[in-house]
Amino acid sequence: MNEKNRDAVISLRNVSFTYEEVPEGMTEAELDASGKKLAVDHLTLDIYDGECVAVLGHNGSGKSTFAKLCNGILVPDFGEITVYGIPTREEDRLLELRQKVGMVFQNPDNQIVATVVEEDVAFGPENLGFPPEEIRARVDNALKAVRMYKYRGHEPHKLSGGQKQRVAIAGILAMKPDTILFDESTAMLDPKGRRDIMRIIRKMHVEMKKTVVYITHYMEEAVLADRVIVMENGKVISDGTPAEVFSDIEKIRAVGLDVPQATELADLLRQDGLDLPNDILTTEECIAALTETLNA
Ligand SMILES: Nc1ncnc2c1ncn2[C@@H]1O[C@H](COP(=O)(O)OP(=O)(O)O)[C@@H](O)[C@H]1O
Ligand SMILES: [Mg+2]
Repeated sequence: MNEKNRDAVISLRNVSFTYEEVPEGMTEAELDASGKKLAVDHLTLDIYDGECVAVLGHNGSGKSTFAKLCNGILVPDFGEITVYGIPTREEDRLLELRQKVGMVFQNPDNQIVATVVEEDVAFGPENLGFPPEEIRARVDNALKAVRMYKYRGHEPHKLSGGQKQRVAIAGILAMKPDTILFDESTAMLDPKGRRDIMRIIRKMHVEMKKTVVYITHYMEEAVLADRVIVMENGKVISDGTPAEVFSDIEKIRAVGLDVPQATELADLLRQDGLDLPNDILTTEECIAALTETLNA
């Protein structure tokens, strides 16, 4: 990939993390030999400024652990993570780090803290001690960005799941982070709620120029990213454009994931002898390729 000219905003170097107790003074070699299950296993990876990255992997592959390490919620047992140059180990810089990298979780109910929408969104900037007019501006802009401004006086618990998730996202946006991590933030939503959140993620990337990393198990969401990372057993097993990653159908299936439906259909038709390209990801691309082949 051609990212040589871009700055890494999140850098992982040989990062390992286990949820099991690591005895004081244990060396990395001793940890490796101990048989403890590493949730993230010697991971080296860069996320670059302005990227839109989807992270895939079946349950337990280490995706959430990876995200929490990037946000300083977890600190690696071995290896180093720097976020906008800030080592996540430096506890006294955690507040600075959280203003750079925000995180949206799966369950919107666990992220709402106030009884009125605008108070909820104001929570972060208030804790940072901004003056009232600055807080007002941040809250209004964040609510408008997720199209929830007219709900600013509503009670969050009366909103739909998708609307609550948009409020949670506004709460993160009000902190003005440069990078936002989404950990399966569409998983609990209905199809419309999911599409709304994906639209907001795309808008953050395209219009607001933010770096976005989203964990998902929906292939139709993953194909919208510029880059897809596939995790398995705490390691990255595939990393590239959606077309590059999904063209290796066997590898994706081997880790228990599906490829996008259009990719699968094109593959089946290719096996039947049709001359179709192997980088088809969407229904539209599939129709276009089929039309061309059948008219040839
Ligand atoms: N709080 C926890 N305590 C103990 N083990 C955990 C905890 N959270 C995750 N794990 C384990 O760490 C591994 C990676 O989990 P996780 O990062 O949540 O994967 P994913 O998000 O891909 O489903 C799994 O083996 C999981 O069982
Ligand atoms: Mg997870």
